[in-house]
Amino acid sequence: GAETFTISTGTSSVSCGPEQKMLDAFLRNGVWVPNSCNQGTCGTCKVRVVRGTVDHPPAPDSVLSTAEQEQGFVLSCQTTPASDVVIDPPAEETGSPRHVLRDIAGTVGAVTSIADDTVSVTVLLDEPLEFTAGQYVELTVPETAETRPYSMANPPSEPDKLEFHIRRQPGGLATEGWIFESLDVGDPVTMSGPWGDFCYEPEEADVGLVLLAGGTGLAPLKAIARAALQDDPEREIHVYHGVRTRTELYDVDFWEGLSATYPGVRYIPCLSREQWSGRTGYVGDAMMEDLPSCRNHAAYLCGPPAMVEAGVKALKRRRMSPRRIRREKYTPAV
Ligand code: FES
Repeated sequence: GAETFTISTGTSSVSCGPEQKMLDAFLRNGVWVPNSCNQGTCGTCKVRVVRGTVDHPPAPDSVLSTAEQEQGFVLSCQTTPASDVVIDPPAEETGSPRHVLRDIAGTVGAVTSIADDTVSVTVLLDEPLEFTAGQYVELTVPETAETRPYSMANPPSEPDKLEFHIRRQPGGLATEGWIFESLDVGDPVTMSGPWGDFCYEPEEADVGLVLLAGGTGLAPLKAIARAALQDDPEREIHVYHGVRTRTELYDVDFWEGLSATYPGVRYIPCLSREQWSGRTGYVGDAMMEDLPSCRNHAAYLCGPPAMVEAGVKALKRRRMSPRRIRREKYTPAV
């Protein structure tokens, strides 16, 4: 759409500007629509258009089935209205965050090398940001229209800064072309957020947590672990961090410190391509060796798709209820 139209859930109407995606317009106006990747690859943001016409790129069948497309479903993160539009109201889910999406500005407070090809970046915000542990922001690559998603590694109790863990991607516009090339303390940064519904659930306080991370997928799990321990310092938390080699491990001191301070925290780094004094293999297998049952646990998984899928399988084999398994597959942010 090249004009401004009104888009409505039946009960809430918001205006959607030229070229603006419907998901973006709803979230910026405080109307919650489930969302995860904002890239057209996960299907979380699908909504059914019941009135009006829309423009959207073709969606792969694995994300939006032909039957769904025939019923009028679209991916709201990829769709612009071509007239005023009414959608079916998205189902209310408990625990969905209600933070309003907005543009955010800040300056780089620190860039620290934390492992091979991995940095931690702290951005000091001009204004505090409300978010839920587990969510992410989209950083704008300077002088381009490109954005890249990065999860916050700090909890929302620190709303004036954001901590990101960023791994270099060979040839990546954002990582090689910017972050690893020139990003420095004092640089201005712009982004939008918070995005996503991979969120810490404070209501689920009576179960232990299993956190399975691959690579820099550890970032949102650090935020979740810190938020959970702020709520309950006795919380049982099993953290499995999978990387290939020792040189990719990071934040070891932080997690060892956490497990020394909080009696319920266990930290288990796992190397898949190197023998060492610690655990080897994949995080799902290590978890299965340690925990005979996950019936009374909830899980958060974040990492590459294959790691997340294997981890979900392992948790189900340990009898974890599927509704207690929350996952975020990260697409390497090139
Ligand atoms: Fe729209 Fe993932 S497909 S949020």
